[in-house]
Amino acid sequence: MKPILEIKDLHVHFYTYAGVVKAIAGVSFTVYEGETFALVGETGCGKSVTSRAITRLIESPGRIVKGSVIYHTKDGRKIDLLKLPEAELRAIRGKEIAYIFQDPTAALDPLYTSGYQVAEAMVVHRTVRSWKDGIKRAIEILRSVLIPDPEKRVKAYPHELSGGMKQRVVIGTSLSNRPRVLIADEPTTALDVTIQAQILKLIESLKRRHNATVMLITHNMGVVAEIADRVAVMYAGKIVEIGNVFQIFKNPQHPYTKGLLKAVPNPLIKVEKLESIPGTVPNLINPPPGCRFHPRCPFVMDVCRVEEPPMVEVEPGHQVACWLYTKR
Ligand SMILES: Nc1ncnc2c1ncn2[C@@H]1O[C@H](COP(=O)(O)OP(=O)(O)OP(=O)(O)O)[C@@H](O)[C@H]1O
Ligand SMILES: [Mg+2]
Repeated sequence: MKPILEIKDLHVHFYTYAGVVKAIAGVSFTVYEGETFALVGETGCGKSVTSRAITRLIESPGRIVKGSVIYHTKDGRKIDLLKLPEAELRAIRGKEIAYIFQDPTAALDPLYTSGYQVAEAMVVHRTVRSWKDGIKRAIEILRSVLIPDPEKRVKAYPHELSGGMKQRVVIGTSLSNRPRVLIADEPTTALDVTIQAQILKLIESLKRRHNATVMLITHNMGVVAEIADRVAVMYAGKIVEIGNVFQIFKNPQHPYTKGLLKAVPNPLIKVEKLESIPGTVPNLINPPPGCRFHPRCPFVMDVCRVEEPPMVEVEPGHQVACWLYTKR
């Protein structure tokens, strides 16, 4: 397996009036070329901030305070996206590393046609020679994301399209430059269930066709079980467990992962009864010392309250940050 993105010791803070929100506190993981990598965790645990930090899409009052994001280019160079001059980063963002964001309505400009918006990314990155070629390609792209009657829909404005249709246009825009990495942040939450399944199938098939790498962020464990190769579990700005999809679903180790899997329908293991994890995600201005999960953990020990657990390997490729699995 060849790495394509190596995120190392990422720290992101938000400087708010109430205090400094330590949203991402030392996140490290590697995404391999061609895989589907899922990032899961409760709301507010830092999934979106992590994914946006990869290409420095963190807006004020947020700041990436530490870390590196090593991107392995097609020609074998390794570059740190967090140190790259903005102009060079812009050439990668949206072209080699593209996003599909949570809300399709926000991602589209109401003043421009769908064809214009799909073509724009290609014109900006000069993957087409002219606007005319861009619109021609846009029709093909709309067809590939299964929009019926693309010759007509290319001229439609966002308000003339349904929610599912809009999300397809957004996906078309993201895929227009055949990105090597596609970061999909809850790409289907705004859509109804049947369309959700179609969109995910679409991402999968487009991925296979271009051997793209997908980083998928979702609350839907059924989707994760179905399409992810590896999974990272985040809690309160840290990764607590990482492994392949079978290790995470069949042999979860961290009490948080176990709780999370009991709280949602699990397609790989029959759960007797869904139970939510008691308590809530802590305030990240003053996060709990030691293990950030300790106030909610049914197995809490003294060490958990004072010292942060290191990441240890429990089986090949399966890592956990929990004092239950390591000696101090
Ligand atoms: N602009 C901001 N100002 C202050 N805090 C922020 C800002 N954006 C994000 N945060 C904080 O960063 C943390 C991580 O947020 P993030 O959006 O990454 O969560 P998430 O895991 O994507 O949640 P969800 O599943 O709801 O999308 C949260 O505690 C959030 O409050
Ligand atoms: Mg999010």
